[in-house]
Amino acid sequence: MEVLRPPAALAATALLALAIAGCTTEYPIATEPAPTAISEDDTLSAFAPDGVKIGSAVAGGGHHEAQTYPDPFSGDEQYRSVLVAEFTSLTPENQLKWEYLRPTQDEYNFDAADAIIEFAQENGQDVRGHTLLWHSQNPGWLEQGNFTADELREILQDHITTVVSRYAGKIQQWDVANEIFDDAGGLRERDNIWIRELGPEIVADAFRWAHEADPDALLFVNDYNVEQIGAKSDAYYTLVQDLLAQGVPVHGFGVQGHLSIQYPAPSMQANLERFADLGLQVAITELDVRVPVSGDSRPEQSAIDTQAEYYSTMLEACLAVDACTSFTLWGLPDKYSWVPHFFSGEGAATVLWDDFSRKPAYCDLQELLAEKSGTTADAAFTSRVCAA
Ligand code: G3I
Repeated sequence: MEVLRPPAALAATALLALAIAGCTTEYPIATEPAPTAISEDDTLSAFAPDGVKIGSAVAGGGHHEAQTYPDPFSGDEQYRSVLVAEFTSLTPENQLKWEYLRPTQDEYNFDAADAIIEFAQENGQDVRGHTLLWHSQNPGWLEQGNFTADELREILQDHITTVVSRYAGKIQQWDVANEIFDDAGGLRERDNIWIRELGPEIVADAFRWAHEADPDALLFVNDYNVEQIGAKSDAYYTLVQDLLAQGVPVHGFGVQGHLSIQYPAPSMQANLERFADLGLQVAITELDVRVPVSGDSRPEQSAIDTQAEYYSTMLEACLAVDACTSFTLWGLPDKYSWVPHFFSGEGAATVLWDDFSRKPAYCDLQELLAEKSGTTADAAFTSRVCAA
């Protein structure tokens, strides 16, 4: 990856940066979309250390369907160009979930997912597949189907085999089991249809079926509120040890990272390390950091600065652990974030303002990546407005 630029280009980029981009400390008053990058190598992924993928969710489905804007992935060219420039990994936000892939029991609809995966292939990006076994966003025909245990088992096996084998070699990581524990560390035995009807052993089978369908894909458990050591991450730690002891192909621990500055920033490194010590990869899979908002007014500057610290804390912990090879943001810019639709009084959770200009969080992430990959010696980088 080319990160050191020739002096002339660097001077030009720095000037251009001062003129048009930079990390806004004020809410932008833009009449036209701001440029998203100073040049193609002034991005997050351009500064990432070798072996660390920087990812984003690909907006579409879910909460977007109730908004007035067109589908972001197919309808927003600026957004698509940011996905290409900034990221080396993409996660379909909703398009690989059951309710999108399985409109009816006998039908698979791969159109939206295929489009994203083809796009990733064209642009040399990895894909994180999200998700195969979850309690949420399941179709009505499944949840209300009154199937027998044998039927449900067959439905799940067919789904996992069909979907994972379709994208074999194109999806590098799968969130096989998503959010299977509650915050107290208990298995979701009531609201997860698979665990309720088929018992906890179904989790191991889901991993086995996924592995058979694509032996090269890395298979993850994935959840929120598992950043640091506690009841919920302990439950995963125990589960993963049990699965490994049975020879079940589980390869990764995914930490979603949906944070709010109203709570203390999590201390994540020791937790990541204990999973890495089991031989697992670890990944930050859905990071966003929400801040207090009021109506249409801009968030307090202090909140935006604190947000940047939280993003940095998460990246620092990931970069400190060799097994943390994937760091994914749950979407951008703010206008496409799920957060305001779920959390009243909170928002502005991504690293880009609505016009795609950079927040301090973006700049801090970029600087940390540069430090880790040893590019801070690049004088032009350190003098860029982003680092100011
Ligand atoms: O199903 C209802 C439908 O009946 C109703 O008519 C419609 C009206 O808006 O809403 C539908 O529910 C939507 C749901 O997606 C299903 O498509 C919700 O409004 C919508 O808010 C929801 O959003 C998605 C959410 O997952 C669902 O849990 C978000 O777009 C998506 O970003 C979010 O992503 C999850 C990850 O998959 C897992 N980790 C947490 C993360 C954030 O919640």
